[in-house]
Amino acid sequence: MSKPRVLVVYYSRSGVTARVARSLAARLGADVEKIVDRSDRSGPSGFVRSLIDALLERPAKINAVKHAPSAYELVVIATPVWAHRLAAPMNAWLKAYGAALPSSAFLCTLGGRGAELALEKMVQICGRRPVAHCKIDSHDIRRGIDPLLLDVFAEKLTRKLEYVHVPERMY
Ligand SMILES: Cc1cc2nc3c(=O)[nH]c(=O)nc-3n(C[C@H](O)[C@H](O)[C@H](O)COP(=O)(O)O)c2cc1C
Repeated sequence: MSKPRVLVVYYSRSGVTARVARSLAARLGADVEKIVDRSDRSGPSGFVRSLIDALLERPAKINAVKHAPSAYELVVIATPVWAHRLAAPMNAWLKAYGAALPSSAFLCTLGGRGAELALEKMVQICGRRPVAHCKIDSHDIRRGIDPLLLDVFAEKLTRKLEYVHVPERMY
């Protein structure tokens, strides 16, 4: 049987999620889709705009994607947490593709609080639960345990992928 195809989709404003998502993709041998936001979110005004978008759950305008999620057995969705919700560019991507995903896994990065609501919002948009999820906060990064958390997450996903053609056994 051919190796299941995995796509890691990420959005990152300041680089943390990009680094984590790319490290995970390397562990899984996955393709990578970087979500490109059309708004300028740099500096204090960009921060405030991002906060308001997140609070209002307003999807951002994003560029066209390079990878069709339907071509993959598993799609890992990696986003920073904004205002206990998901980042507006990821909100846009999920609203476009989330409901049609084959199976998904969620990866959140955050300062410290709010991952639970953000993960729940992702479930609501996709209409189904992920096969697994992982949260990495700034405390984990300061302690240097993020590579370990990614090892564990990648191992879990690899095991789930062994059952990828029998979706009901994933939950
Ligand atoms: C607009 C905005 C809102 C945020 N809200 C939260 C939050 O509610 N809880 C939290 O723990 N971190 C929050 N953060 C911090 C980010 O989630 C965290 O720094 C993340 O790792 C940044 O990822 P990035 O570098 O990929 O953009 C927020 C950051 C931004 C820019």
